Amino acid sequence: MSPLWSFLLHLFLVAATATEPAEAAAGALPGCPDRCGNITVPYPFGIATGCYRRGFRMACNSSYSPPKLFLSKNMAVSEIRDADLVVEAPIARNCYKPFNLGPDVELTTVDVTGTPYTLSYSRNKFTALGCDTVALNFQGGNMFDFSSGCVSFCIDPSSINNGTCDGIGCCQTSIPRGLQQLSTILRSLSNHTGTFNFSPCSYAFLVEQDSFAFQLTDLYSFARKSTVPVVLDWAIGSQPCDVAAQSWNYACGPNSYCFNATNGGGYGCRCNSGYQGNPYLPNGCQDIDECADPSTNTCSHICTNYPGDYACSCPRGTTGDGRKLGTGCIDSRKLPLVQIVLGVGLGSAFLIAISSWGYWALKKRRMILLRENFFKQNGGLMLQQRISSLGSAGERARIFSAEELERATDNYSESRILGKGGYGTVYKGILPDKKVVAIKKSKVVDETQVEQFINEVVVLSEVIHRNVVKILGCCLETQVPLLVYEYVPNGTLTHHLHGDDHVSTVSWEIRLRIAAETAGALAYLHSATTWPIVHRDVKTANILLDDDYTAKVSDFGASRLIPLRRGQVTTLVQGTMGYLDPEYFQTGLLTEKSDVYSFGVVLAELLTGQKPLSQTRPEEEQNLAIYFLHAVRRKQLLNILEPRIRKEASEEQLEMVARVTERCLSLRGEERPTMKEVAVELERLRLPPSHPWAPPTPDRSASASRASARGGISEDENLLREDYSTAYCTA
Ligand SMILES: *[C@@H]1O[C@H](CO)[C@@H](O)[C@H](O)[C@H]1NC(C)=O
Ligand SMILES: *[C@@H]1O[C@H](CO)[C@@H](O)[C@H](O)[C@H]1NC(C)=O
Ligand SMILES: *[C@@H]1O[C@H](CO)[C@@H](O)[C@H](O)[C@H]1NC(C)=O
Ligand SMILES: *[C@@H]1O[C@H](CO)[C@@H](O)[C@H](O)[C@H]1NC(C)=O
Ligand SMILES: *[C@@H]1O[C@H](CO)[C@@H](O)[C@H](O)[C@H]1NC(C)=O
Repeated sequence: MSPLWSFLLHLFLVAATATEPAEAAAGALPGCPDRCGNITVPYPFGIATGCYRRGFRMACNSSYSPPKLFLSKNMAVSEIRDADLVVEAPIARNCYKPFNLGPDVELTTVDVTGTPYTLSYSRNKFTALGCDTVALNFQGGNMFDFSSGCVSFCIDPSSINNGTCDGIGCCQTSIPRGLQQLSTILRSLSNHTGTFNFSPCSYAFLVEQDSFAFQLTDLYSFARKSTVPVVLDWAIGSQPCDVAAQSWNYACGPNSYCFNATNGGGYGCRCNSGYQGNPYLPNGCQDIDECADPSTNTCSHICTNYPGDYACSCPRGTTGDGRKLGTGCIDSRKLPLVQIVLGVGLGSAFLIAISSWGYWALKKRRMILLRENFFKQNGGLMLQQRISSLGSAGERARIFSAEELERATDNYSESRILGKGGYGTVYKGILPDKKVVAIKKSKVVDETQVEQFINEVVVLSEVIHRNVVKILGCCLETQVPLLVYEYVPNGTLTHHLHGDDHVSTVSWEIRLRIAAETAGALAYLHSATTWPIVHRDVKTANILLDDDYTAKVSDFGASRLIPLRRGQVTTLVQGTMGYLDPEYFQTGLLTEKSDVYSFGVVLAELLTGQKPLSQTRPEEEQNLAIYFLHAVRRKQLLNILEPRIRKEASEEQLEMVARVTERCLSLRGEERPTMKEVAVELERLRLPPSHPWAPPTPDRSASASRASARGGISEDENLLREDYSTAYCTA
């Protein structure tokens, strides 16, 4: 074919498609292909050179029949929508590999880094199938960015509930907002002993929530599946509408409006009401001729189309509003003059009265609805329920109004920010009675976070302890809920141990006190409250310090009440890498001993001044717990202590604290001491050595201490252990 012919043919094809209304709505740039197989590709997306906005290129591979649209090499696109699109993403699988403690197989599930797309956190769920399955996901492919995971097992096929993914055969968890990459690790929960022949493999994948309903048959039929649908959000640029509108490459064409992307930065465009088409094209939004189709207008007689709107009227000689559901058009000659005058007069007076009342009522109702909505969305109902079930204990937390907190924080001024984290921002607030408080403003609230939020309010309002941060109340009227705490002025323990300007400022005496106080608070949570509470996220960043370095345990967002049937709680594994109990990590079975492990890591941090995860240590010792245990076993503890600790602590204290730390870090939960035992031991060490209540120091322990001074921990471990257990018994 000559170039001229092909050009003419192209023109003809473009003209032919342009006459079809459905095609016009899809809208590629003039002269650009707008389909690939049976999928429409609207601008800003495009498949040919010069046909897409920067970053929105796709590829159409016509060696398939019908041709297939691809986002990147391995991800086929199945649908493009207003603000998101659906792709086919791969599935991670693991069939009967012997359990080993070596490196896990890591499978990158989805990766859209370097594109304007993010994995939709609201429409996808991280899902795992199997009867012996631990599935973990990592953001950005880095083991240190542990995000979450879930555990699935089976009892027998009849225990599986079709349609529900509740940890039996199937488990699910949500992913954080704004992710572009998610890697998956799958492993066996119990070395394949719990595997059933109807479920030979484990699978893990991210999937569009609405398109996946778990069935028993999925456990084997997934063997034949290679992909699942995943939703990606897309947006133009990274700035909100008001900023982007000033820019030379603002994407929204005439007769369209801009909306902020709900899932991170950027914006999108939509046609104004009364217009249709592709808002990203120069003449994309075209007036809808409502009068052409009787079903799109409400006129009974005459319809006149305007740009963006239409009007109804009556033919000459008739009156009325001309609407099907209104008065229609009435022959004016049939109405006597008096009736018209009276009717119109009374009618309009009545209308004015009704409409002004209606306007006022509507406005008021809208405000109420909005507030109610926020209250509901923020779990107000759940909170009311849980507080009423707590009885008088719940009355301690107070509900603050939105204005009150706005005034207290100087309208959430930057200068009031105390700290920022994954959860949101903490502000310093000053209440009208001059009381200083800390106000936590969550980042976003989806449903799972609402539960955590309510959890925190309920758990904390039930706990009164000197070393647990006090909650004063919350505010539910705003879009994101706010929590009000007592103000703890001296920052976090992490800051004092690892902050650049704080190296070694905390003395051994204070560290020991902080450890003892934290242990006491945790022991209290584990045993002294109505139900045992497991904190689940014990770490130095959650230990706040007062002016005189009094420790206050904070952040109960992840904590759980343990019902009386102990050890039967299976939860989504949650916590912070480096502090996370390996047993809980593998089994998902939550007990108080998980907190004991995390506390062990805190103790190791206090002794060594090192971070829980550090890439400056040799690879197998990047984890502080392992580093610490190795040093203790090689009798090289003194070499890894922070210098000032080596100087200030007595030998007995060092030995005992090291011993407690070692036991807290036992791999098996049952070998760890209880928090109460730990608290008692640490309190005992704080007494001056000559204190009359302190147990007498036997000679053999003194000789062991001398041994440790020579660089080892002890020569006589067994004897020391005995000594140690009697210390508990005296408690
Ligand atoms: C495209 O075709 C495939 C099968 O050929 C079908 O499953 C799919 O639903 C179609 N998609 C659209 C958007 O029509
Ligand atoms: C199209 O798909 C086929 C089959 O997967 C592959 O061999 C080929 O390289 C693809 N073509 C392009 C242009 O990517
Ligand atoms: C679930 O569905 C499968 C078939 O899809 C059926 O064999 C099984 O009995 C169902 N289980 C329950 C508990 O309904
Ligand atoms: C798991 O099972 C395999 C073989 O069945 C065995 O060799 C291995 O030691 C087991 N691992 C553990 C941790 O129990
Ligand atoms: C978009 O967000 C910005 C702030 O991020 C706000 O100022 C602006 O009013 C929002 N625009 C729309 C249309 O929602």
